[in-house]
Amino acid sequence: MTLSEIETGGRMPSDTSNLSGKVLATRTKGMSASAIREILKVASQPGIISLAGGLPAPESFPVAIMPELVAGALEKYGAAIFQYGPTEGFPPLRETIAGYLDERGVTASSDEVIITTGSQQTLDAVAKVLISPGDRIAVESPTYLGAISAFNPYEPRYVALESDDHGVIPETLDRALRKHFIKFVYLIPNFQNPSGRTIPLERRIAIADIVRKHNVLLFEDDPYRALRYEGDHLPTIWSLAPEQVLHAGTLSKVLSPGMRLGFFVAPAWLRRWIVLAKQGIDLHTSSLDQAIACEYIAGGYLKRHLPSIVKLYRPRLKAMLDSLQEFFPAGFSWSRPEGGMFVWASGPEGLDTDKLYAKAIERKVAYVPGQYFFTTPGEGSNTMRLNFSNVDEESIARGIKLLASLMAEDIC
Ligand SMILES: Cc1ncc(COP(=O)(O)O)c(C=O)c1O
Repeated sequence: MTLSEIETGGRMPSDTSNLSGKVLATRTKGMSASAIREILKVASQPGIISLAGGLPAPESFPVAIMPELVAGALEKYGAAIFQYGPTEGFPPLRETIAGYLDERGVTASSDEVIITTGSQQTLDAVAKVLISPGDRIAVESPTYLGAISAFNPYEPRYVALESDDHGVIPETLDRALRKHFIKFVYLIPNFQNPSGRTIPLERRIAIADIVRKHNVLLFEDDPYRALRYEGDHLPTIWSLAPEQVLHAGTLSKVLSPGMRLGFFVAPAWLRRWIVLAKQGIDLHTSSLDQAIACEYIAGGYLKRHLPSIVKLYRPRLKAMLDSLQEFFPAGFSWSRPEGGMFVWASGPEGLDTDKLYAKAIERKVAYVPGQYFFTTPGEGSNTMRLNFSNVDEESIARGIKLLASLMAEDIC
């Protein structure tokens, strides 16, 4: 069974009354169950080495210090953290995130910082506010599957921007903007999901110049910045063109994805609309979770804890790169990220990683077939995304070896 078959095989509950034909909105047809969710279901079967998911390692969560954080939040804010709160976010956390962002060159006042229920909510709210059916948005190729899922219900047309080992090629962005009116450009400049690529400084400068020249909006999605294992941090594109850029971040990778905490800074006109949209979505993000996060960052816990997350993931990335080098057959290439959670591998023309997925599962190893990260049908069938954050080094080596033997048999 291919992944497409897994996807369509009984994904949606059946409707014997045929009511769905009458009541579903036309835009609902643009939604499809996230391929990753379907893969994860299969990949989480016992005994399978899953290089498929995008989960942080449970060992990375600051569980031991949670009682202290919760006690601190209760002592400082009392009953207020169980109450409804402002849509824009819990004021002490907005203040704290403004300081956190300042360290990455995003200089904003606390009034300019909005807290969201994960950066996934920022993706949805931006799409809700900006996309009318048929509007064009420009995305990297490949791009984050969750962004495609967030955008699709608003019925955009995608302009896929050509990318190489250094991320999006600025000239293709310039060309696209000369050819089309584009509502916004969506980029993940650091350790991109799925490719692991990072856009170098010269390209960031070129991209900032281009978006300024065309007066277009850029959505800079930056969930992985803190997870850098080698090299130096690069300036955000926001810091190069603040008037044109929405900069979104998250605490999912450095605190907990389950707490659902994200944030963004955007030009004032856009910020106001997103806040209105958020009001309709969830009124506000959990007050309790925001207060705990505030303790975590403002109390200096994040600064102390982050090195242990980096120390956990660095050898996992190395194990994956070393194993690919040792075991993968000729004809394959892969990204060499300096951070994040993913490595992207490409095989020879004709390889179909979607077709091979079921065989990989039989051999007890899972990955995500790359085609799901492309907005142009038929692209990326010879690619795959490999996650290293949630698997120990020994299992990574075993998983890559299993995968390598399957790939070698297929391409012979
Ligand atoms: C590029 C990218 N953007 C956004 C998200 C959503 O993150 P969250 O909603 O947990 O903040 C993810 C999650 O993996 C991601 O990889």
